[in-house]
Amino acid sequence: MLVRYGGNLPRYTSYPTAAQFDASVGAAEADAWLRAVPQGVAVSLYLHVPFCDVLCLFCGCNTAVVRDAGLREAYGRLLIEELRRVAARLGPGHPVRHVQWGGGTPTTLPPDSMRAVMREVRRLFTVDANAEIAVELDPRFLPDACPALLAELGVNRVSLGVQDLDPAVQAASGRVQSLEQTLECVRRVRAAGIGSVNIDLIYGLPYQTVEGAGATAATVAAQLRPDRLAVFGYAHVPWKQKRQGLLPEAALPPPAARLAQRARIDAALRGARYRAIGLDHYARPGDALCLAAETGTLRRNFQGYTVDPAPVLIGVGASAISIFPQGMTQNVPAQAFYARAMAASDDLPAVRGVRRTEDDRLRGEVIERLMCALRADPAAIGARHGAGAGWYDGAWPGLRQAEHDGLVVLEGTVIRVTEAGRPFLRNIAALFDAHHAPAGVRRHAGAL
Ligand SMILES: C[S@@+](CC[C@H](N)C(=O)[O-])C[C@H]1O[C@@H](n2cnc3c(N)ncnc32)[C@H](O)[C@@H]1O
Ligand code: SF4
Repeated sequence: MLVRYGGNLPRYTSYPTAAQFDASVGAAEADAWLRAVPQGVAVSLYLHVPFCDVLCLFCGCNTAVVRDAGLREAYGRLLIEELRRVAARLGPGHPVRHVQWGGGTPTTLPPDSMRAVMREVRRLFTVDANAEIAVELDPRFLPDACPALLAELGVNRVSLGVQDLDPAVQAASGRVQSLEQTLECVRRVRAAGIGSVNIDLIYGLPYQTVEGAGATAATVAAQLRPDRLAVFGYAHVPWKQKRQGLLPEAALPPPAARLAQRARIDAALRGARYRAIGLDHYARPGDALCLAAETGTLRRNFQGYTVDPAPVLIGVGASAISIFPQGMTQNVPAQAFYARAMAASDDLPAVRGVRRTEDDRLRGEVIERLMCALRADPAAIGARHGAGAGWYDGAWPGLRQAEHDGLVVLEGTVIRVTEAGRPFLRNIAALFDAHHAPAGVRRHAGAL
C-alpha cells in the first residue's frame, strides 16, 4: 500500500493545481475575469501578508522576517492600492461575504495598517453584516492590544499554529511554543469576543512520534478546546523551500510512521468528539464546517476547507492566488518584486495562472466532491457537463485497485471513499487528474 500510494501528489486545493500555472496567463486575464464577474454575485477576499516574527524551519509558506515597521506599513499601502484596482474592475460596492487574512502572520502588519486595509475593504466593497472575517495569527507573538484590534476590525474567526507540543520536535523544527503561550493566546482572543478558533497541527515533523502526536492532539482538544482543527502532514519540499533543508532529514518519520501518527491524532480527536472533515480537518458537531459536510455544501479552495460558496475568490498581495470560473491567476510571488510591479504600472500584479477548460471544470468538480464529500458520481457529473459516458474510462483500473485495497466502495457509477480511504483521498482524486505529472517529476510533497 505504501509503495502503491506513496508518490508525490498535490493537495487538490484547486484543479488544475498551482503546478499547472505558467506565464501564458497574467494581468490581462485577471483584468478580464474581474470585469466579467456579474454584479450582485458575492466574492471572497484573501489578503496575503508575507511576514513573520521568526521563521519556522518546516514552513512551506511564502514568508520572511521584515524588522522595519516602515516596510511593513508600505506593504499595507500596496494591499490598499491593489484592492482599489480590483474594485475599479468589479464596480463600486461589490458584495463580499468572506474576508480571510493569511500569511505568513498577518498581525505583523502595524495596527494602523490593518485598520486602514479593513477600512478600505469596507469602503470599496459591501461587506455582508454576517461576513466571516478570519485572521491567521502566531500565538508566540500576539501584541497586547491585538485581540481588541481584531475585534474592532470585525474579525470573528482566528486560526493559529500549534503543530506539536513535544519539546524535542519543537526544537528541531525551529518553533518553540509552550502550551501556556497558546492557552493564553486562545484565552485572550476569546475574551475579546472572537467566537471561533481554529488550531493547526502537523504530523511527520522531525523526531515526532506516534505517542507524542496523539498526546498533542488530546491535550489541544482537552485544554484549548478549538472549534476546528487542521491536521497537516508535513510537506517536505526542500527543492522549493530552502529553509527546510536545515531540518534533520534523517529524523523525519517514514511514510508508515506518518500514517500511524495521523491515525493516532484522528483517534484522539474523534475521542474528544470532533468530527473528521475531508482530508485533514476536524470540527465540533454543530460547527458550520460540519453542517456543510453533512449537507454536501462544503467547498475546497487555497485556504483548505470552507463553507464559502462564492464562485470567485480574489487574492490580494504578494503570491496571492485568485480563483475565477474561467481560471486562476497568481500575483508576483516575491514581496520586493510585487512592490516593483505595483509601482511600475496601474495593471493588476498577476503574472502566472491557468485557464480552465470544460474538461478541467468537469474533473475539478469530481475532485472537489471526492475531497469534500468523500463521494462522487463521475457519470452524473459528466452528464451535466455534456461528457460522454466513457469520459473517465482511464480511471477505472485505479478505482478497482482502490476498491480491492478497501479505500473506496463502487456502487454503480458512485464512488464512496471509506474511512480507511480518507488518508488516501489525494490518491483517489489523482485518478481524475489529467495534468498529473508522470512518476519521477518532483513537484509536490509525498502523498502520505
Ligand atoms: C500561515 S501558518 C499559520 C499562522 C501562523 N503563521 C502560525 O504559524 O501560527 C499556516 C499553517 O501552515 C502549516 N504549514 C506550514 N508549513 C507546512 C508544511 N511544510 N507542511 C505542512 N503544513 C505546513 C502550519 O500548520 C501552519 O500553522
Ligand atoms: S508556520 Fe507560521 S510563523 Fe512559522 S514561518 Fe510559517 S507562517 Fe511564519
